[in-house]
Amino acid sequence: MALLLKGAHVVDPALGLDGVADVLVEGERIAQVGESLEAPEGAEVIDLAGKYLVPGLVDMHVHLREPGFEHKATIASETRAAAKGGMTGVCSMPNTNPVTDNGTVVEYVRSVAEREGHCRVFPSGAMTKGLKGEIISEMGDMVAHGAVAFTDDGRGIQGAGMLRRCMDYGKMFGKVFMSHCQDEDLVGEGQINEGPVSTKRGLLGWPAEGEEIQIARDIAVARLTGAKLHIQHISTARGLEMVREAKAEGLPVTCEATPHHLFLTDECIDETFNTNFKVNPPLRTAEDAAALRAGVTDGTVDAIVTDHAPHADWEKSREFELAPFGMTGIECSLALIITNLVKPGVIDYGRMVDLMSVNPRRILGLEPVRIEAGSLADITVFDPEVTWTIGADGYESKARNCGFDGVSVTGRATDVFVGGRVTLRNGQVC
Ligand code: DOR
Ligand code: ZN
Repeated sequence: MALLLKGAHVVDPALGLDGVADVLVEGERIAQVGESLEAPEGAEVIDLAGKYLVPGLVDMHVHLREPGFEHKATIASETRAAAKGGMTGVCSMPNTNPVTDNGTVVEYVRSVAEREGHCRVFPSGAMTKGLKGEIISEMGDMVAHGAVAFTDDGRGIQGAGMLRRCMDYGKMFGKVFMSHCQDEDLVGEGQINEGPVSTKRGLLGWPAEGEEIQIARDIAVARLTGAKLHIQHISTARGLEMVREAKAEGLPVTCEATPHHLFLTDECIDETFNTNFKVNPPLRTAEDAAALRAGVTDGTVDAIVTDHAPHADWEKSREFELAPFGMTGIECSLALIITNLVKPGVIDYGRMVDLMSVNPRRILGLEPVRIEAGSLADITVFDPEVTWTIGADGYESKARNCGFDGVSVTGRATDVFVGGRVTLRNGQVC
């Protein structure tokens, strides 16, 4: 069926588009973009005056929890949350049970997503079997079944030699290697950023160096092997500086940052010990967050991701040391970026689209999406002016462990199309 999306402000930095236009969708692709387009016979016309229309957002770091942790979340529930947040696709992390380390599990995730999902799911596959850092996973098998990237997310690969073997072997598949950087010997049982706040709260520290050592090492091993490296959820100023230098050297290195590392700090962990602020890597200092925001502006940060990590209430209600790491965020990341970066003039909507749509697709090697004839009709529409309170109407996610719960924000997805099919209409998941 044809859809005529009328009167939205279209932003597509790849095409230099930044103005009001109509978009005609036929089947799964865009048929025409222009001014005052006529609706073909039988087309549904959707009035989008006052809204923004952009290439569909992709969150390239999401924990869907299925298979194995359905008490936390499911592919159905978290892709609903993704649609609500304006996402047309997500890259799922492999720390499932069984671990996504072979083609069968990749196939399982993809087939459930196809049946029950509300957005595209691009599975990543583990680099090592069982995320144990000991034996290379079945990389070719996973790629054959649709894996788009390799990562042991949830853990860093502890041995530099193991990382080298994974990259030397796996680079023939042309996929990116994504690193969760954490030296387990140095970090140990660290709970929050090591510094004055961890001392004040009496919690074991998780030092910045525990992340930076592996960022430095992974860049060195990428140089050695020629593999594509993507640093996940970067959280420290010095780590970001290493990525900046690697890029200047011409290495194929990219990185991502989360809204929580951009906009929250370890000072959030007060005497209430709210476990929603327990994340991995931990919330860092105000100086680190400012350095990350500067990296968003100058292009060192390539992608905004959420590391959406749903957990059950009873898990997050435990003592701080016993609660699992992670917060949800996929329903509010667009709003947080609009509110904290676009509205204050730190970045424009074009740069936002690069960070949340264009670059994630490029890093994962996905088909590009542009607002032009012939492109896949993966489209996000948002109201840039609506003000709302995160969590006030509950969450689509099965989990509620959002670190931004109760925060007032501006901007919200209203309509989402995935391959020309409506997944969000007037703010309601379809
Ligand atoms: O906070 C986090 N939660 N960081 C990770 O790396 C893993 C994730 C999870 O799986 O809960
Ligand atoms: Zn991680």
